[in-house]
Order: sequence, then structure tokens, then C-alpha cells
Amino acid sequence: MLNISTIIGTGSCLPKRIVTNHELAARLDTTDEWIRERSGISQRHIAADDEKTSDLATQAARQALERAGLTGDQLDCIVVATTTPDNSFPATATRVQANLGATKAFAFDVQAVCSGFVYALTVADNFIRLGQVKNALVIGAETMSRLLDWQDRGTCFLFGDGAGAVVLQAQPDSGDKQGILSTHLFSDGRHYDWLYTDHSFGGPQTRGTIHMQGREIFKSAVDKIGQAVEKALDHNNLKASDIDWFVPHQANVRIIKGVCERFSIPQEKMVVTIAEHANTSAASIPLALEKAVSDGRIQKGHLVLIEAMGGGLTWGSALIRW
Ligand code: ACO
Repeated sequence: MLNISTIIGTGSCLPKRIVTNHELAARLDTTDEWIRERSGISQRHIAADDEKTSDLATQAARQALERAGLTGDQLDCIVVATTTPDNSFPATATRVQANLGATKAFAFDVQAVCSGFVYALTVADNFIRLGQVKNALVIGAETMSRLLDWQDRGTCFLFGDGAGAVVLQAQPDSGDKQGILSTHLFSDGRHYDWLYTDHSFGGPQTRGTIHMQGREIFKSAVDKIGQAVEKALDHNNLKASDIDWFVPHQANVRIIKGVCERFSIPQEKMVVTIAEHANTSAASIPLALEKAVSDGRIQKGHLVLIEAMGGGLTWGSALIRW
């Protein structure tokens, strides 16, 4: 019998320091009003100088493990989705593994930028389905602030730092449609240069900063996300109205509203954290999941659809019966 993955714990971590739009407007040619109107963002959390992606990831993981009633040594697998690893190598996941004392786990990173959490969840879910893993920790963790040119008003307001984690556990698939019901991934490398950092191993060894064709991304986002949502619904013979909660990647509130319009989804069914968190790339979905679970919106038995699009381009969705 194949297994199915259930989510048995969620956790999150946001750096203490908050940078408001007003603070940005004091040093850049921008305004709070412009940023809120164009993106829905009011503030972002920014990591301290000595705070690494693995530190945020470890704190989120500890909370998720505690809520799952597990300790690090019970984990079989750790997958960290990040585009801002502590170092080019080894994987940030191995640092998290050491921090958690997860001596029996194997650990690695997944890089799919803002779609990273959906990709990492898919990989861990497949290990569980195949019976190779019982307990998996999936983390989305980012310090995007380190990739920003703080003088570039066109990009720096969009991003923030943070981490979210979920613990997956294998259950025998008894056919009662619980847990992760489906995952679908897509990418299109022809749009590589719509969103990239200018660090390259063939060039000078700098960290690089983000370059973005914001309008191109914006124009294709609702189509790509729509494709991923449709795949998830069709695969499970469901309609958008059957879904209890949509937990989208938090890139821009106008993209989220566009998806609502396309599928006639009431906005109250969308879990939206962009105002407080900005775009935390791979961390945005697990951060939003943790918030909606903690405040009691997502409850056992609810149907939850997550979706994301990001650099690459990459995009995808997962449908979960909580
Ligand atoms: N403050 C004030 N004015 C600004 C700012 C700013 N912070 N940034 C840009 N402008 C100006 C531009 O210079 C431009 O001025 P001009 O007309 O004189 O040249 C004007 O505002 C309009 O700029 P646009 O880039 O056309 O503005 P747009 O309405 O497209 O909004 C935005 C920009 C918010 C970046 C939008 O394109 C967007 O959200 N795109 C998606 C990008 C995204 O989500 N990236 C995240 C990673 S990918 C992902 O997660 C899906």
C-alpha cells in the first residue's frame, strides 16, 4: 500500500527588526502610498547582521517539531527551500540538521526561488509516498534582504526575510483523501532573465543583487498560477468553490486579487500576509500556513490549496486535506 503525507506541525520565525514603508521613503524616492497601492506591502522584517537563513530556519523548525510532538532525532529527511543559503555549499539544510540534532535524517536544499516551498513539499511528499521516509521536515527560509540593492526603488520595497516550516508524517493511504492529495510543478527557463541575481560563478565573486522585469512577471503571473490551480482542481475533480482556504505565495496583492477574480474566489478565502511580511520568497507560503493554522482559520478536514510562481520561471500548486 502506498503512503500519504499528513501535515502534523507548522512553525514560523520572523526577524525582530521591522522596516516600514515610511522608513524606506525617508531614504528613497518613494512613498508609503505608492508601495501599498502597487503591491499591498506596508512593512517587512529584516534579519540582523549576524542572523543567517539557517538561524531563521532552525527556529521555525523547532516550533513545528514541538507542535508535531517530535524531536530532531525522529526525522528521516530535511528539505530546505532557499535562494539565500548561508553558503554556496554545503546545503543550509545540513546546518539546520546539526542545530536540531537530527542525526538520522538526510538533508538537502531545493532552489526554485519563490516556488521553492511547493517544490520542496513535492519532493518530500514523493519520498513519503514511496515509503522511503516516515517523518520529513520541509522549510522555506530566506534572507532576501542580502540580495537587495537598497538604492533600487523598483525592487527593494518588495522583499522581506523569514522562515516557515511544516512537519510531514507518513500514514497508510486508506483512500479517505486526507493529507497531501496532489502536487503539480512547472517551469519555463526561457524567462530566466525576468528575475535573476547578477552573481555568477563565471564572474567576480560578489553576492549579486536582484534584477527584475516586474511588469513581465506581473503580466504572466495570473496565467501561470491559474494553470497550476486548474491542474490541482481537475486532478481532484474539484471546483474552486470546494476549496476552504487558498494560501498563495505572497508576491503582490494585485496578483492575488487577479487569481480571486479568475476563479471567482471570495477574497476572505485567501490567506494574505503580504502587508506585514512583504515577499519572503520560499518562506511566504509556510509563514502564511502557520499564521492561518495558529489563528484557527485552517482546521482539520479543511481543503487547502497552495500555489506559487517565481524566478526561472517556476510555478506550481499542492492540494492538501488538512
Ligand atoms: N516608488 C515610486 N515610484 C516607483 C517605484 C517606487 N518604489 N518603483 C518604480 N516606480 C516608478 C517607475 O520608475 C515608473 O516610473 P516611470 O513611469 O516614470 O518610468 C512607475 O513607477 C511605474 O513603474 P512600473 O514598474 O511600470 O510599475 P508597476 O505598476 O508595474 O508596479 C511592481 C511595479 C509593483 C514591481 C509590479 O510590476 C509587480 O509587482 N510585478 C511583479 C514583480 C514581483 O512580484 N516580483 C517578485 C518576485 S516574482 C514572484 O514572486 C511572483
